[in-house]
Amino acid sequence: MAETKKLFIKTYGCQMNVYDSERMAEALGGNGYEQVGTAAEADMILLNTCHIREKAAEKIYSELGRMRELKDAKPDLKIGVAGCVAQAEGAEIMRRQPMVDLVVGPQSYHRLPQMEAKAGHGEKVLDTDFPEEDKFELLKARPKSKRGPTAFLTVQEGCDKFCAFCVVPYTRGAEVSRPVDRIISEARDLVERGVRELTLLGQNVNAYHGLGLDGHDWPLARLIWELAEIDDLKRIRFTTSHPNDMSDDLIDAHGRCEKLMPYLHLPVQSGSDRILKRMNRSHTRDSYLRVIDRIRTARPDILLSGDFIVGFPEETDADFRDTLRLIEEVGYGQAYSFKYSTRPGTPAAERGQIDDTIATERLVEIQALITRQQRAIQDAMIGKEVGVLFEKAGRMPGQMVGKSDHLHAVHVDSDTLKPGDLRRVRIIGSNTNSLSGVVL
Ligand code: SAH
Ligand code: SF4
Ligand code: F3S
Repeated sequence: MAETKKLFIKTYGCQMNVYDSERMAEALGGNGYEQVGTAAEADMILLNTCHIREKAAEKIYSELGRMRELKDAKPDLKIGVAGCVAQAEGAEIMRRQPMVDLVVGPQSYHRLPQMEAKAGHGEKVLDTDFPEEDKFELLKARPKSKRGPTAFLTVQEGCDKFCAFCVVPYTRGAEVSRPVDRIISEARDLVERGVRELTLLGQNVNAYHGLGLDGHDWPLARLIWELAEIDDLKRIRFTTSHPNDMSDDLIDAHGRCEKLMPYLHLPVQSGSDRILKRMNRSHTRDSYLRVIDRIRTARPDILLSGDFIVGFPEETDADFRDTLRLIEEVGYGQAYSFKYSTRPGTPAAERGQIDDTIATERLVEIQALITRQQRAIQDAMIGKEVGVLFEKAGRMPGQMVGKSDHLHAVHVDSDTLKPGDLRRVRIIGSNTNSLSGVVL
């Protein structure tokens, strides 16, 4: 048996990167690597990166700079860059940081084992292809070890929408959906290993249309109904959705499928039609609000989440007020807001950029509104009964923490609950970022 080597993966960006990091660790397991928790003990460090905003991409270079010392102390240490920065910048990464041994894009990481072997012989390796083969199939089968009660499962990748500000269509490529049978067998395997809640992932997850069990294309709703047949799978979620792809069958599943949780992340980006048009979002403020109405009719208690960009080129104060009004109108239980970041190669980068001080002021204002709204919706949960899937021990002794159906963190006092237990809980308190409750 060859000696085991130690792998440290640091993950940035979205949940799809979290899933990819798991798969990369499994793939490298076949090369004798086991995962460790710190860079200092590693024989190989992989940064799984995000390119969505300038700050995220620059962070990678400063992180690499800090690794210089580790590499000096241990010349055999291999350093790899994976993910969306790898895809966007490719060979430029090795030019800026010559100590990087390996650069692998998000669509090529099934080739990591061969790349690692080459890097082991001192070669510099780069792969940012969009290959034809199915990377998920070619990855080593998932190991049968036990795991926690929640897991991500990528069902769709890539984006064909080309919002004017966004790098994802370039870093992740065109929309591709995995076949239903492969998703089901991966889901069954995860459930056998202890998973009780699956979050189906895709950059445009509700645009999913994969080869179904009957040889026809299945939409996401059909996949969800099929997954709901797995007995020990108790909860299903999906993210991220595009407003234009909220089809009737998916909304209907929210109304009728008990395992589909009442939470939906549905980014709108702006509340101004003028800006939405310039963003190439292909929906209007009104069509978004109509989608929300349909969803709420099907599932009145659904908790909505969103993403907002402030300071997009040419955004006026009136446009920004339209966004604030939309937030007031919808009532988000959770929302993320970002200051627009100019991304090279995207159409919006060519337009007149707005003053950074104004963008910062808008960010502060939108975040204050979102925080107030989140808190009000959290406070309104007091007295209600919710399902909670417990995940781990809390910070205080005798405490357990889990997520409610609406994805609120909930803690309770209990010495008997175990991770994976699903219980009805009455909410009795609301704190900054979590709820407290008592098990019924
Ligand atoms: N596919 C998803 C989300 C992709 S990226 C969707 O369509 O909504 C996640 C979020 O990052 C986006 O929703 C957007 O709010 C934000 N984002 C993307 N590009 C950005 C940019 N150039 N500057 C600031 N925020 C950006
Ligand atoms: Fe980016 Fe728009 Fe695609 Fe979302 S839908 S990933 S924001 S291009
Ligand atoms: Fe970032 Fe790539 Fe995800 S750019 S948000 S890691 S798809």
